[in-house]
Amino acid sequence: MYFIYTYILTYDLDKKVLERKINTIESILKSSGMVSKKGYFRQESIFKSSLPFIENDKDIKNVAKRNILTSSIGVTYPFTLSTINDKKGIMYGTNLNNDSLIFVDRFNQDKYKNSNMCVFGTSGSGKSYFNKVMILRNYLLNIKQYVIDPDREYGNLVDELKGSLIKIGPSSNTYINIFDIREDSLESDQSGYLQTKISKLMAFFKLVFSDLSEDEKGYLEAKIIKTYEDKNITFDDDSLYRKGNFKTTNDMPIFEDLYKNLDYKYQVKLIPFVKGSLKFLNNYTNIKLDNNLIVGDVYELGEENLKYGMFVFTDLFWDKIKSNRNENKIIYMDEVWKLIGITSNKEVASFIYKIFKTIRKYGGSAVAITQDISDMFSLQDGAFGKSLLNNSEFKAFFNMEEENIKVLSENINLNEKEKIKIKSLNKGESLLFIGANHVISKIDSSEYEKNIINK
Ligand SMILES: Nc1ncnc2c1ncn2[C@@H]1O[C@H](COP(=O)(O)OP(=O)(O)OP(=O)(O)O)[C@@H](O)[C@H]1O
Ligand SMILES: [Mg+2]
Repeated sequence: MYFIYTYILTYDLDKKVLERKINTIESILKSSGMVSKKGYFRQESIFKSSLPFIENDKDIKNVAKRNILTSSIGVTYPFTLSTINDKKGIMYGTNLNNDSLIFVDRFNQDKYKNSNMCVFGTSGSGKSYFNKVMILRNYLLNIKQYVIDPDREYGNLVDELKGSLIKIGPSSNTYINIFDIREDSLESDQSGYLQTKISKLMAFFKLVFSDLSEDEKGYLEAKIIKTYEDKNITFDDDSLYRKGNFKTTNDMPIFEDLYKNLDYKYQVKLIPFVKGSLKFLNNYTNIKLDNNLIVGDVYELGEENLKYGMFVFTDLFWDKIKSNRNENKIIYMDEVWKLIGITSNKEVASFIYKIFKTIRKYGGSAVAITQDISDMFSLQDGAFGKSLLNNSEFKAFFNMEEENIKVLSENINLNEKEKIKIKSLNKGESLLFIGANHVISKIDSSEYEKNIINK
């Protein structure tokens, strides 16, 4: 047990103002049920007691003392009392209920089931800002970070952190070949490079052809196999090696190789990819992924084709994430509903879901960001949206409208108070779910961070 003494000093040159200040202090204390006494005849010794001389007058002590237990004494230190204060964590924000700071170490596997996060909120509520702050802070911990950027808004961060920005689009000369089979796509104990690639390609082509009958799927798959065969790549994994080295992007087929093998009916749909607006996808890969921050910019693809670019980067980053289990890494997927919502398909959505389910094994964390909640829960009765939520220990709900809150509360447990709260959150404030803890928090950033983000 301890004794605690609290002295409050106030001063002013104007007596009237001083009296007003004292009244204010007293009424604040009174409203919290605290008893205060004015130090009328002992001003000097109280003043001295409050200075850092460790000189606490005995008589004053007797009047001011209050007993307190060890557990409560912690409260008197700034920053230590927090519902969430992980040792190696980074700051996520300020708890608006008690002004304590929230530190989270999302890679703490003893404490959290996984490291994934869902970030939901209406347009302009602060989702991207939050992620940018996270990127800046995680960068200091040497965590590898991959961002899929549909709005071309992460460029400043890349400049500042000397990351690499990969743009794909009509005016860009960086290319990624969707037909690439990369050594990282399988782990050393797995086999079946071509099978794995084909299932991913089929998901991609279902985005292109939207609906394919079973016959058509079979036809397309046979043609894909033939296209790889033309390049001497077969279901035998050895066919991917030449003299002990894994084959490079120049050994892989590209779009036009498949195109040549198809009947006219299918060619028509692929014309944009080979000769038209998307022909930048008909090239050999010419980028390297060896930076701690890599941003995949798909802005130029436009609304209609965004999903292709997002898929290409997701596939690329996923292989990269799997390549080293001992490193912590994060993949940020902005506008994720495009890949798991109604404009997408079961195969692509399953791929994203698989990332959320298995990334933990590779020391990774996936972040799904979306403003379109109803779209997110549209495919297959919301099964994929729900799975993403269920596989995310961390959730940040920014301001949302009534309609979206309704959809959300059908898929996750929100109490009435929380539902009302989400509606009235200001920009930059969110309801954070950190494991089992729910806190209303504000995302604060330093001047340094603000300058980079708003540059
Ligand atoms: N915590 C914050 N502190 C200071 N400014 C913020 C904060 N959060 C958001 N802002 C400002 O609000 C604006 C909109 O925020 P942001 O771009 O993060 O919205 P968003 O939720 O990503 O919207 P969209 O869904 O349209 O992408 C930004 O210009 C940003 O500077
Ligand atoms: Mg945004």
